[in-house]
Order: sequence, then structure tokens, then C-alpha cells
Amino acid sequence: MNQGVFISFEGSEGCGKSTQISLLSERLRTLGREVDVLREPGGTALGECIRHLLQFAPEGLGMCPESELLLFTASRAQLVRERIRPALERGAVVICDRFLDSTTVYQGVARRLAPDTVAFINDFAVGGCLPDVTFLLDLDLAEARRRMAARNNPEAPPDRMEQEPDAFYEAVRAGYLRLAQACPSRVRRLDASRPEREIESEILEILSGQIHGIFPPPAFGEARIS
Ligand SMILES: Nc1ncnc2c1ncn2[C@@H]1O[C@H](COP(=O)(O)OP(=O)(O)OP(=O)(O)O)[C@@H](O)[C@H]1O
Ligand SMILES: [Mg+2]
Repeated sequence: MNQGVFISFEGSEGCGKSTQISLLSERLRTLGREVDVLREPGGTALGECIRHLLQFAPEGLGMCPESELLLFTASRAQLVRERIRPALERGAVVICDRFLDSTTVYQGVARRLAPDTVAFINDFAVGGCLPDVTFLLDLDLAEARRRMAARNNPEAPPDRMEQEPDAFYEAVRAGYLRLAQACPSRVRRLDASRPEREIESEILEILSGQIHGIFPPPAFGEARIS
């Protein structure tokens, strides 16, 4: 039986996470793997309510960084127990659009909450459930903003995070790069300025080298040469 695999994608807004998640999940499904794509905050009924509070609800305006930290981690605690662990136990591949590294970087580095406190709360929330591999899509801010301007509906209001100034996003990028240096075997930095298919190839290469058995072996007939 296949073993469950947990993959997360990280990086600033507009760096290409959704694009790569969709390419990877299609590829894995074509190969016959069960794939569960989850997003943060959200992915459960409780988590989607928290997502609304964090992103658009008027009640969330003026939220203090401490509340923000606890809301993100509350959503994640629920996601781990309701969706991620059961999926991994079934042998599925779980692909998470953001996970605990977002909290380390956004609340710990960019919002400047005490790193030890953030790490403690992060650990408590995930209860030891960590990704096998995390892809950090690293992109400079100007290009990320260009991509978002091309993608987003100009009529749609930006969410609470998207209204942050450039200095916030520079801190996010620097925080992610430090994290990749601190956890080199789990967090793999990818140059996200390249074409989508090039990034996808590197992801597939890393996964086949690092996660034994993630790609099922070819069926007997395909392996024959005559
Ligand atoms: N490698 C790439 N080269 C050029 N454009 C890209 C690339 N990858 C994604 N894009 C485009 O950039 C935009 C942002 O990509 P995407 O939505 O995947 O980013 P994201 O990281 O999921 O953003 P968010 O954090 O806001 O969800 C989209 O319009 C997408 O088509
Ligand atoms: Mg996205």
C-alpha cells in the first residue's frame, strides 16, 4: 500500500503556488494517486469561517497580531485533525497551499511577534504533523505585484494582507529565505521567476529523489521494450 505524503507550498502572494499545486495534483492523479489539495487558512467548515474573519470581515479590521497568530493556528489545528491526518492515514498525497511556515514568517518575522512564542504555538497546533517537503517559490516583489495585477479583477477589493506595504513583503521574502537556510532538507527554495513548466520539472525531480514511492512504478506492460 502507498504511504501518505505531505507536501506544502509557501511564498508570497502571486509567486505561483496555486499554479504549481494544480500542475502537481493533476500529474499525481494521472498516475493514480489520491490527492487532497487543501488551503490555509480554511479547508474545514471552522477554518473557512476563520478565513473570512482573517481576510475580509469588517470584524477583522484592527485585529492585533496576537489574535491573528491564534486565528491562523486555530484554523490549522482543525485542518490537521479533520483533514490532513486522516488523508495521510489513507495513503493520500496531501498538498497544502501554505502551512505552518507562513505563520513563522508572516506573524513571527513580518509582524515581529516573539519567534519562540510563535514556534511554541505552531508546534502545539500541528501536534507533530509536519510536511515531508515544502516548496518555497521565491520571487521578487516587483514581479509578484505584476503577476497579481495581471491576474486580479481590478474591481475586487484587496484582502487584509494584500493591503500591507512593500516593507512587509520584503520582510516576508527575507524570512522565507532564512527559513530555507535553517531547514534545508525540508524547505526547498525554487526560483519562481522561471517559466511554469521549468519549475514543475524541478518539483517532480526533487519529489522523486526525496520521497520514495511517490510516483508509482510503471505498469508491467509499460516497462517492456518489446
Ligand atoms: N512561472 C510563472 N511565470 C509567469 N506567470 C506565472 C507563473 N506562475 C504563475 N503565474 C501567473 O501569476 C499569477 C499568480 O499565480 P498564482 O495565482 O499561482 O500565485 P499564488 O502564489 O497562488 O498567489 P496567492 O498567494 O495570491 O494565492 C497567475 O496569473 C499565474 O497565471
Ligand atoms: Mg493561490
